[in-house]
Amino acid sequence: MKIWPIDPLPTRFDGDPGFAEALQYLAAGDLVAVPTETVYGLAADATSADAVAGIFAAKERPTFNPLISHVESLEAGERHGVFDATARKLAEAFWPGPLTLVVERRSSSPICDLATAGLSTVGLRVPATAVTRALTAALGRPLAAPSANRSGRISATTAEAVAADLGERIAGIIDCGPTPVGVESTIVAIVGPDPVLLRPGGIPRGAIEELLGRPLAAPKDAADRPSAPGMLASHYAPDAGVRLDAEDVRPGEALLAFGPDLPPGADAALAVANLSAAGDLTEAAKNLFGLMRRLDASGAATIAVMPIPADGLGEAIRDRLARAAAPRNMHHP
Ligand code: TXA
Ligand code: MG
Repeated sequence: MKIWPIDPLPTRFDGDPGFAEALQYLAAGDLVAVPTETVYGLAADATSADAVAGIFAAKERPTFNPLISHVESLEAGERHGVFDATARKLAEAFWPGPLTLVVERRSSSPICDLATAGLSTVGLRVPATAVTRALTAALGRPLAAPSANRSGRISATTAEAVAADLGERIAGIIDCGPTPVGVESTIVAIVGPDPVLLRPGGIPRGAIEELLGRPLAAPKDAADRPSAPGMLASHYAPDAGVRLDAEDVRPGEALLAFGPDLPPGADAALAVANLSAAGDLTEAAKNLFGLMRRLDASGAATIAVMPIPADGLGEAIRDRLARAAAPRNMHHP
């Protein structure tokens, strides 16, 4: 496995040998981990069923679930999905950025059925990380990319975490350093009459509802909400157990703190990490997966997590923590 360090700031990468090599691998149907602003993605050519099958094999995903296809622009997205006025409004406001739109798929789209799990819809997103947009533009095809971690495990926000989890199963990793947002994209389905929030994520619900002037609906039924790793009860799971809304730290526990004041028992914790000592939810989202990995490595049997407010990015953080705390036997749908 190769690691290609690439400066995230430029917008052109033609002269970069790492970029060229990563592109060659993707064009050949190989797997490359790519940075996005949310988490690292395990990318493959979305139009190649062989390449996409490789993603499921590397992740050991229990089932074939729909993947997000990453494109470089709304214009590129419109080749694959149908954008009504609402979808276009959201794309124009939040792309590039941590929002995935599930829209009706165009029959002319070359995205393979394995990437969409045979659904009549397609999940599309334009990532904020320039190198990943440049890769899909240069490839001339969308990149299917779930989070670059083994199925059910903590999402990777650094190239080191990707390497530790997927190592020799992939051709290489484009390393742009830690991902700035830290939780996955918000997923909104624009399919029926009402926009549906399928997954809270890096764009707070309130920002979307304010733009649309209406509340986002909750998923109603199985058709709205296909069984998928990001939506399974148990997901993002460390080896340690997870105890939510902890008001104290018990013997043998590690502490995932939030805010300036630590609870009783914190002095005796096996390890302590603070999502944000200032109580800032944006900082907490960015730190979430990395600190969960660090506390898990402490060997504690349980990670006690202090209460996290539910506003703004807190909804996505609480969603990921609830899945990390869920019973592990629910892992296989
Ligand atoms: O931030 C992110 O979204 C990251 C980065 C790499 O882009 N990707 C990510 O992918 O989190 P993944 O595969 O872990 O989660 C994709 C989610 C799944 O829960 C899946 O059900 C949903 O997107 N999804 C994709 N296409 C869909 C569709 N057509 N209908 C409903 N849900 C869909
Ligand atoms: Mg994931």
